[in-house]
Amino acid sequence: MPARELLYERLAQKLAQRIADGTLRAGERLPSVRRLSRQHGVSVSTVLQAYLLLESRGLIEARPQSGHFVRHFRQDELQEPRAPRPSLTPRRVTMRGLVADLHRAGSDARFVPLGVATVDARLLPADKLNRTLARVARASGGAGVSYDSPRGCARLRRQLARRALDWGCALRADDFLITVGTMEALHLCLRAVTRPGDAVAVESPTYFGVLQLIEALGLRAVEIPVQPQTGIDLDVLARAMTVERLRACVVIPNFHNPRGSLMSDEAKAALVALAARHEVPLIEDDMYGDLYDEAAVGARPRPCKAFDDEGIVMTCGSVSKTLAAGYRVGWVVPGRFDADVEHLKLAQTVASPTLPALAVAEFFDSGGYDHHLRQLRRRLAAQVRAVREAVARYFPAGTRVSRPLGGFVLWIEMPSGCNAIELHGRAVARGIAVAPGPIFSAQQRFVSCLRLSCGHPWSEATERAIAELGRLARAACGRLSA
Ligand SMILES: Cc1ncc(COP(=O)(O)O)c(C=O)c1O
Repeated sequence: MPARELLYERLAQKLAQRIADGTLRAGERLPSVRRLSRQHGVSVSTVLQAYLLLESRGLIEARPQSGHFVRHFRQDELQEPRAPRPSLTPRRVTMRGLVADLHRAGSDARFVPLGVATVDARLLPADKLNRTLARVARASGGAGVSYDSPRGCARLRRQLARRALDWGCALRADDFLITVGTMEALHLCLRAVTRPGDAVAVESPTYFGVLQLIEALGLRAVEIPVQPQTGIDLDVLARAMTVERLRACVVIPNFHNPRGSLMSDEAKAALVALAARHEVPLIEDDMYGDLYDEAAVGARPRPCKAFDDEGIVMTCGSVSKTLAAGYRVGWVVPGRFDADVEHLKLAQTVASPTLPALAVAEFFDSGGYDHHLRQLRRRLAAQVRAVREAVARYFPAGTRVSRPLGGFVLWIEMPSGCNAIELHGRAVARGIAVAPGPIFSAQQRFVSCLRLSCGHPWSEATERAIAELGRLARAACGRLSA
């Protein structure tokens, strides 16, 4: 005969399963205590205990004189996804075909675009920028078809130095080097400071492009957990630095992709001091810094570079999320590794394309960029809110969702038992692109996580897609959610 606790736990488990799979819906009344006790052949007090357990888990609520009801899963009650447990063993990285699938679906207009983190062209000043490009092309004559210098467009570097004042950084035009997007910047930084076989600290989860670079360069990744609100776990990183000789550490301090976290100034300063103390080059990807939610964050957050007196920080960025991913205009401030980065740039691509850099410089100069950024920030924050609300409405109880203060991706942890790779396969078959959690980890962790991009205007198709994802998630996980 099972113990009494087991009876009520088992009953609660069954009910939780029905809530998770949608048989019992939000707002629906549960059977009365007496009826349930008769149906299941258990005592009234067992049912009461089961209901109490479900109440304590936030799945149901008791309403005076009316009975027990399945709770509405409200957005303000959504919890943050949890950080992973640290594991300090360096790993070789093998990224699977999933990243290629993600990009394929991202460039196929038939998919509902919740996968690749791109901003919809309708939110970008595409016509104005393209006209600017045509104008600078006409005006530049032979210079437009010639190699730029390896450092890249001087006019753009001057503009960037001016913009850097807003980031809290006093930088000169010559501190910047123009690259082919943030990806080339990250690549140059990693190549400048590592050799094949070296161990590099990365965040867990992290942007899959970082892991692809680590794989391509034959490096090993040490995964450091990212905390929901504060970013990379500095205690674990400090421990990792004493366990293994780390040759670099790659971080996304502002509106982390995929986690959404924003490191405080204090945490950034502590991270830079730690890197300097251990002589570990800190490669920071700051491509989301301009996309803060104005209602939640008063000003553009500073990059780690703003706290760097020793040149240990290498800051990378681009206009891919704010203006034009296709122009492939990015930059790096390599700090004390400048000569190596410039040398590698020459060896790798000679120089960046001349005209797109000139067009971006002209666009910055015209003052149109800041106006555009203000509008874009508002639109993206509204889209993130809409997708978050829909996740709250349609995903199974127990789902956790990030609360980003900028950027435009959401990190979702579904109840355990929900396999994101399987869900991804089913979603793709239904024309919905999503990014499954394991591609954000060298160890393919985050099996029950998804990243949803909110870079496209909210539409009925988006709502239908999220409802369908929620249905797939409910079908996949029937277990009692914690
Ligand atoms: C964090 C992060 N870094 C780098 C990139 C790639 O940037 P780019 O297109 O400028 O090479 C992305 C694109 O999604 C990203 O999210």
